[in-house]
Amino acid sequence: MKKILITRRLLRACEDKAEGIFEANLNLNDELYSQQKLVELSEGCDGILSSLTDKLDSETINKLPDSIKIISNFAVGFGNIDLDAANNRGIAVTNTPDVLTDATAEIGILLILGACRRASEGIESARQGGWKWSADYLIGKQLTGSRLGILGMGRIGQKIAKIAKSLGMIIHYHNRSKLSEDKEQGATYHDNLKSLLSVSDVLSVCCPASKETVDMINKETLEYLPKGAVVTNVARGDIIEDEAMIDALDRRKVYAVGLDVYKNEPNLNPGYLKHKSAFILPHLGSATKDTRTAMANLAIDNLDEYFKTGNCKNKVN
Ligand code: GLV
Repeated sequence: MKKILITRRLLRACEDKAEGIFEANLNLNDELYSQQKLVELSEGCDGILSSLTDKLDSETINKLPDSIKIISNFAVGFGNIDLDAANNRGIAVTNTPDVLTDATAEIGILLILGACRRASEGIESARQGGWKWSADYLIGKQLTGSRLGILGMGRIGQKIAKIAKSLGMIIHYHNRSKLSEDKEQGATYHDNLKSLLSVSDVLSVCCPASKETVDMINKETLEYLPKGAVVTNVARGDIIEDEAMIDALDRRKVYAVGLDVYKNEPNLNPGYLKHKSAFILPHLGSATKDTRTAMANLAIDNLDEYFKTGNCKNKVN
């Protein structure tokens, strides 16, 4: 039986599945392992089922025992893993695409609605009481007829486009390459970021975090947006330069933000907290029972497939 380290708790049924296939070292207290502890616990293991909270940088990967052949990340994103270091060590890295597309797109739409319709302020007023309806009370921005710019038209971007279109939004996107017509669903392609941002009344960041996308939304690129644009991020916090974004909120260049992901989670930049127009969630993208179950099962299947065949369809390196 192969031995694996599972760095965080999974839903119980998924841990049972893992224990049926592997000798699994579970993290019953769901503690956040330090990099050193993760390396120590990997001793004698053949693989690691990691999560996005594990920072598997080159230093950590270089210290892993030779027995580790695969890191199966319990997420579609794998920005927490240094792929070059994994390649150098001959360690396969896998992710969990597709199964979380719908749940994450739902949160992407919630961010758009929450930011445009001033949900944070509304919730606070409703809880406090004493609010008074009036014709101009908490007036927000309507989605119908607004232009939605999607940065990264992968699986999640396409699903957000589909839902947003049904809400009457006009869809634009920027991607490394233009999609086929069936995937585009009538959206307008922009071959550069400036062109996309200049037509984005609402921006939805959906691209993976990579060396190319870190701080892509920054002091300079924010200026390409129309004044009073809404910016949402359902992908990774690394893509937004926080100080520039908070400054844009201060100046009302950006009307509101809708964020589910942050640099340095869970310690988001406190500058966001002072803005009532910031609709912020604690990284809930894939957080439904069905999706978390499917993700964990896929992460387990990825390990099993790799151990059995020496390859895996969800290998990303
Ligand atoms: C969730 O954030 C994921 O990348 O799967």
